[in-house]
Amino acid sequence: MRLYAHLWDTELMSLRPATPLLAPSLLSADFTRLGEELRFIEASGAQVVHVDVMDGRFVPNITIGLPVVESLRKATTLPLDCHLMIVEPLRYAADFVKAGADWVSIHQEADPHLHRTLASIRQAGGKAGVVLNPGTPVEALVDLVGDFDFVLLMSVNPGFGGQSFIPRVLDKVRRLDALRSERGVPFFIQVDGGVSLKNAGDLVRAGADCLVAGNAVFKAEQPKQAAADLISAMAAGRTA
Ligand code: DX5
Ligand code: ZN
Repeated sequence: MRLYAHLWDTELMSLRPATPLLAPSLLSADFTRLGEELRFIEASGAQVVHVDVMDGRFVPNITIGLPVVESLRKATTLPLDCHLMIVEPLRYAADFVKAGADWVSIHQEADPHLHRTLASIRQAGGKAGVVLNPGTPVEALVDLVGDFDFVLLMSVNPGFGGQSFIPRVLDKVRRLDALRSERGVPFFIQVDGGVSLKNAGDLVRAGADCLVAGNAVFKAEQPKQAAADLISAMAAGRTA
């Protein structure tokens, strides 16, 4: 298993990364040049690669699957963060770890057996995450604390890049951060959808540890500068 120890605060009982992490989403990248897009992410200072896996059933879009993750694995040493927007995630979650994913997240709404699926990801050697859609309350996770390594809060309805940020997620981040302190149990908080310079600082201030950004990076006029600006805004949010 790849450990990426440098990203994590060793003494914390939490799994919070030492600095907030930026995870550019390949969904907004140029699929004809994925290798170059990975080189770009590495050079930009972002620490994680976000991979959106959609099945056309859980969400109304189809993207990429295991063979592409295997290829990405060969082409970068950065952590691969696979966000599974698929029904019946138990069937595939461990396979994504075997294909090279470091983090695998599954939707609460897609799985009546979350505990089992999360365990299958950990058993395969991955970090296991639960994703909540905008309408799913964070309280849905209270009885699973300890069984996941991270929570991904959606700030758009999953399925497409380039949608508008739903600001109510900020309150969800705060509630999740409070839950983490109350329980004293380690997990990190990720936010995905409509992330931009307008909300990155606030999200980190609220307790987010990792922000996913698709269009805000890849569709920017100067993608490298856009990533650098997001990283600075996130760092400022952590110290504020
Ligand atoms: C949406 C995906 C996101 C998407 C984010 O379902 O989960 O990861 O790529 O794209 P932006 O940042 O453009 O909203
Ligand atoms: Zn995503």
